[in-house]
Amino acid sequence: MSTDAPFLLACQRQPTPFTPIWIMRQAGRYLPEYRAVRERFTFLELCKTPEAATEVTVQPIDIVGTDAAILFADILLILESLELGLEFSPGDGPSLKRPIRSPEDVSSMPRPDVRDSLSYVFETIRQVRAALAGRVPLIGFAGAPFTLASYAIEGGGSRNYLATKRFLLEHPEAWNDLMGRLVDATVDYLGGQVDAGAQALQIFDSWVGHLGPDDYRTSVLPHMQNLFSRLPKSVPVIHFGTGTSGLLELMAAGGGDVIGLDWRIPLSEGWRRIGHDRAVQGNLDPAILFAPFPVIRQKVRALLAESDGRPGHIANLGHGVMPNTPVDGVRCLVDSVHEFSANT
Ligand code: CP3
Repeated sequence: MSTDAPFLLACQRQPTPFTPIWIMRQAGRYLPEYRAVRERFTFLELCKTPEAATEVTVQPIDIVGTDAAILFADILLILESLELGLEFSPGDGPSLKRPIRSPEDVSSMPRPDVRDSLSYVFETIRQVRAALAGRVPLIGFAGAPFTLASYAIEGGGSRNYLATKRFLLEHPEAWNDLMGRLVDATVDYLGGQVDAGAQALQIFDSWVGHLGPDDYRTSVLPHMQNLFSRLPKSVPVIHFGTGTSGLLELMAAGGGDVIGLDWRIPLSEGWRRIGHDRAVQGNLDPAILFAPFPVIRQKVRALLAESDGRPGHIANLGHGVMPNTPVDGVRCLVDSVHEFSANT
């Protein structure tokens, strides 16, 4: 496939004919076409059925016109391989039947061959590449070790991440062991995704913004450096988090060709702190998609002004699109990014 796709060029801070855009959770419940496929499967079945996962991966490219596809899967699938007992219950989100509660739970964890247990993901990637036929690049992804560890320890989502913070403060050795195991599994998993055809990777550290800079530096940064140093050099890697305005320099030190920003910081300020030798992705508030079109268009103009014409901005929301978002609002966002950024 063409490496001159605007999304891939922007990841490398090369000039593009317009600012490329994709949207986190672009394959999801706001689309009636997704809900129709989802009716036939549970969420986990959908992830494990390559034909259906391919169909929902491609839907947003056809329906809203984004400039990259993101593999349909979930960051928590790798925890199922680690035999933590992953479940998705309707309405409540994900939960783990066998969460990690003690250092012994870490030392007794299996070391599975994720290239084997997650081979269905690689099959989806091969099918998506064939279905896209070079129209747009495909992004593969995984959870970052902190965010994965937080689900493994809390047993699900959390409001304050107290169990995770207590674990890393009380049991630093077991914490480092757990993070090391998650990095090892993630390196194999993402290597397999690139071998199968993923053309870029995103690391989701969705909840790391709950940590202060000292704990990030001690308990997360070395593991991020380990992870990034071992990823394939052949594809760009996006390093994403939310609530990270206090951590941006440290995240950049962790690694990534592109750093994700959320809406809590102006894009220009975040980019300056990260350094202009990296690309940036973001950073509109997902809530603006519920606003009237003129408001969406005004927010897009303001966002594009923040990048100041510098190559290396990938437009996106600062976090995932919400389930009840009007599809027309998403289309308005994509179209106005293309329209207002086009070189004429
Ligand atoms: O379009 C895409 O972005 C690709 C697919 C994708 C999903 N999850 C599908 C999904 C991706 C990239 C993810 C990543 C993911 N999963 C993250 C990181 C991104 C973020 O939002 O911070 C996290 C934290 C998860 C864990 C997860 N998966 C939660 C907390 C939930 C439940 C909350 C919810 O939105 O329902 C899921 C389920 C999930 N993952 C859905 C989808 C489309 C909804 C499942 C359904 O159809 O019922």
